[in-house]
Amino acid sequence: MKKAFIFDLDGVIVDTAKYHFLAWQNLANSLGISFSEEQNEQLKGVSRVRSLEKILEWGNKTISEEEFTELMSKKNEEYLVYISKMDTSEILPDVPRVLDYLISKEQAIALGSASKNARIILDKVQLATKFHTIVDGTNVSKAKPDPEVFLIGAKELGVLPENCVVFEDSVAGIQAANIANMISIGIGDAEVLHEADYIFNDFTEIREDFINNLVSAKKV
Ligand code: BG6
Ligand code: MG
Repeated sequence: MKKAFIFDLDGVIVDTAKYHFLAWQNLANSLGISFSEEQNEQLKGVSRVRSLEKILEWGNKTISEEEFTELMSKKNEEYLVYISKMDTSEILPDVPRVLDYLISKEQAIALGSASKNARIILDKVQLATKFHTIVDGTNVSKAKPDPEVFLIGAKELGVLPENCVVFEDSVAGIQAANIANMISIGIGDAEVLHEADYIFNDFTEIREDFINNLVSAKKV
């Protein structure tokens, strides 16, 4: 049976979460708003617009629409400077092994990311060709935990949601996968990602027999 495997990008395939954090932290601090790693956790998987809204809420700050747009560009410009230096060494451990194994098993593979920079990053790390379809922040109107991004991926691959498996590092992304009735696999801290169906620290822990079971599993 053919399944679809949908991968989030930031924090799952590449360690870009640290760059988002640095760029948001600099921006928040420039506004006199403090910004902790715990708060950053709540921004993982969340769209750029919603992230800035949250930071302003935390800082109890109201700004004009014009300033909001300027700040979004400023954050992205700084983020793009970090991204421009990326290469294949920033692919998270064993991601290529899992992707290649799924390809060898003729499974469908999609990217399901909130990022509008997803294609640039996949090109930088030379992984774009591994995906049958790429759904990113330029294709969706609703941010995770809304399941839109994963549902579009499933549709494009011609696979029913209950036959999809999602790899995610964010709480919002795990919730989106669960709402979509897909099998959710958390990559990261088990306490943070406790809503996931399965949790691993990273892909080095994901063995081939586990993938084989997923290929024949059903979401209950
Ligand atoms: C998600 C990240 O993948 O993409 C978020 O986890 C980020 O931190 C979001 O805000 C949007 O990304 P971008 O690259 O379009 O600003
Ligand atoms: Mg992520």
